[in-house]
Amino acid sequence: MSPRNGVAVCPGSFDPPTNGHIDVIERAARHLDHVVVAVIANPSKEPMFSLHERTEMLEKALTHVSNTEVGSFDGLLVDFAREREITLVVKGLRAVSDYDYELQMAQMNAALLPGLDTMFVTAKPEWAFLSSSLVKEVSRFGGPVDGLVPEHVAAALAAQRGR
Ligand code: PNS
Repeated sequence: MSPRNGVAVCPGSFDPPTNGHIDVIERAARHLDHVVVAVIANPSKEPMFSLHERTEMLEKALTHVSNTEVGSFDGLLVDFAREREITLVVKGLRAVSDYDYELQMAQMNAALLPGLDTMFVTAKPEWAFLSSSLVKEVSRFGGPVDGLVPEHVAAALAAQRGR
């Protein structure tokens, strides 16, 4: 695939989106013309939030970043990239422990779709410990998640506890 300059896809489960995700997307968008945030419809773990909810949460959290759009995909990321003629994947790296799996995914994606490159944005130290799974766990047991996720996501997590 010939490179399509200035455009990248930021894929993820975003169940739910955290401030760490938003920071990586904002920073990718500073350097690129356009960033497509791609929400996987059916992640390997049963999601807490539906695809519609996750997409809406991201859209709301990114209204201030005009060169982003939120899309979704079901199946392989390379198929989404091929359809959109996107040749760059941007992912966040929090710690060395993320690296092994991210490297494997990046190499698998490049093997499946030659020319698809992956670049990593390093997480800010203040978000290095943050993950959607931990946020869900803290919230499930009634702990505070303010400051870790956008306000509307915190509200959605609180509503989830009441369901
Ligand atoms: O937020 P996550 O859960 O770390 O995101 C992982 C995701 C969705 C980016 C990754 O699992 C993915 O790309 N899944 C799509 C299936 C696929 O393409 N698998 C082959 C890549 S190794």
